[in-house]
Amino acid sequence: MEYLIGFDIGTSSTRCILIDRNGKLISSATKEYPMDTPKPGWAEQDPDSWWEAAVDTVKEVLSLSNIDPGDISAIGLSGQMHGSVFLDKDGKVIRPALLWCDQRTKDQCEDIYRTFGGEEEFIKLSFNRALTGFTAPKILWLRQIEPENYRRVAKILLPKDYIRYRLSGTYATEVSDASGTILMDIEKRTWSDAIIGGLSIDRDLLPPVYESEYISSRVSEEASLLTGLRQGTPIAGGAGDQAGGAVGSGIVYEGIISDYLGTSGVVFAHSDSPVYDPRGRLHSFCHAVRGAWHLMGVTLAAAGSYKWYHDNFGVSDTIKDKYSELSGYELLNKQAEEAPPGSEGLIFLPYLSGERTPYADPDARGVFFGLSYLHDQRHFSRAVMEGVSFSQYDCLKLMKELGITSEKIVLFGGGSKSGLWRQITADIFNTRVVTLNVSEGPSYGAAIIAGAGAGIYEDVRKAARMIISEVTLTKPENKNVEKYNKYYQVYRSLYGSLKQEFKKISGV
Ligand code: XUL
Repeated sequence: MEYLIGFDIGTSSTRCILIDRNGKLISSATKEYPMDTPKPGWAEQDPDSWWEAAVDTVKEVLSLSNIDPGDISAIGLSGQMHGSVFLDKDGKVIRPALLWCDQRTKDQCEDIYRTFGGEEEFIKLSFNRALTGFTAPKILWLRQIEPENYRRVAKILLPKDYIRYRLSGTYATEVSDASGTILMDIEKRTWSDAIIGGLSIDRDLLPPVYESEYISSRVSEEASLLTGLRQGTPIAGGAGDQAGGAVGSGIVYEGIISDYLGTSGVVFAHSDSPVYDPRGRLHSFCHAVRGAWHLMGVTLAAAGSYKWYHDNFGVSDTIKDKYSELSGYELLNKQAEEAPPGSEGLIFLPYLSGERTPYADPDARGVFFGLSYLHDQRHFSRAVMEGVSFSQYDCLKLMKELGITSEKIVLFGGGSKSGLWRQITADIFNTRVVTLNVSEGPSYGAAIIAGAGAGIYEDVRKAARMIISEVTLTKPENKNVEKYNKYYQVYRSLYGSLKQEFKKISGV
C-alpha cells in the first residue's frame, strides 16, 4: 500500500497525519506550542518550536501506524501563511518569526504604497493590498527597526518552508504560500522583479518558487535519523494553510465557495483565472491547483472570538445545571441555542485583533452593541457566532460583487462542528451549507498535493473528487433570513460609525 504524510504547521499546534491512497486516515498526532505577544499587537513564535513539534508528531504518527516508512510515497507541507523566518548564512534562526496576526507593520505598509506611487499602483502590480499581516512589510520592518539582524539575513522562509528546510536542507517554496508575501507576480506565478526590485530586497534572500505539487526536496539523512522517515522520501511543495485546507475540502473548481471557521475565518473561492480588483478588497492569490487561482476574505478572529468568549466569560450556572452531562464548547453551544436568532438586538463586531476583510484596519476593536437589561450570557454567546458570520458574509458579498458565486457553501474548521453555527451561516448567507466526510483541512490537502506530486493521483482535482463527499446539509430558514438581513444592515453601519473612535482609542 502507498501512504502519504501531511503536515499543518499551525499557529497553536502542528498536526501530522498519515493517509492511505484512498484518503483513509491511518494515524495522526498534534503538538501544541505557545504564541508570544511581547507587545500589544505583536505576535511571534520560535520556528524551532515548530520543528520540534514536527519531529515529535511524525514520530508518533509512524509509531501509531506501524507501517514501513519505505511505503510513504511523499510528504506534503502546509502551514500558517505570511510568517517571516529569518535565517543567517548557516541556516540558523536569527530572531523569532513575526506571524500572520502581527500588526506592528502599519508604517511599512505605508512605505510600500509610497514606493510604488500609491495604493492603487501597488495593487496593479501585486493584485493585493499591503496589509500588516503579510510578509513584505515584515521584511521592511526588520530592515528599519533591527538593521543589525537584517544584515545577517541570508534567507527568508515561510513557516512550512522552514520545516522543509529542516527535513531536507533545501530552500524552496510554492506559489500559494508565496502569494501571501505580496512579492509575487500573481498572473505569472513567480516572484515579481518589479516588486522585489522596487523594495530593494535582494532576490537571493528568497527561495525558488515552484508549483505546489512539485517535488522540491527529499528527506535528508540527518532528518531521517531524527524522525524515522526514510532518507530520500519526496517532499512536495504543499500549500499555505488556506489553499491546503481548500484542496482538503474539495474547493478545486469554480462555482464552489468555502467558509473556514478556525481561529481566523476565511471565505475562499477557486478561480480558473487570476482575479484583479482595483481596490484589492479580497486577497487574490495563486491556488495550490496548477493553473488556478483563488480569492479569499479573512476575518482575523472567527472561532478565535468564540474561544475568547469561552475562556473568559463562559456559561451561566443555570445552563451548567441544565446540561450537567456536557462541558466545554458543547455546553457553550447549548447556551447560545437558548437565545433567539438575532440575539434580541445584541450585535458583536469580531475585530478583537484588528481586521483584514472588508476593513483592513489594525486599529479596529471588538464591540458588543445594543445592550439592554434583557441580555444575558445566552445572548452574548450567540451574538459572538452571529457577529463572526456577519463578517464572513461581508467577504462573501465582496466575492459576489466580483462575479464569483456559489450555490452552496462548504463549511469546515472547528466552528462547523456546531449545528447552531451551521444554521446561523445558512441563514445569514441565505445559502445551503454543507459539511464533508473529511475534516482534517490543511494537513489533508497537503497530503493530497503530495500524492499528486508523487504520481499516486493523476492530479489534485481528481484526487479531491475521488475522496471527498458531503455529509450534512443545512438549509436557510426564511423567517431567520429576513431577521438577519435587518440586523446585518445595523452590523454593516457600525464599523463606519466607530472607525475614528477605534483610531482614537489605539492612540490613548
Ligand atoms: C491567511 C491567514 C491565516 C493564517 C493562519 O491569509 O493569515 O489564515 O494563514 O492560519
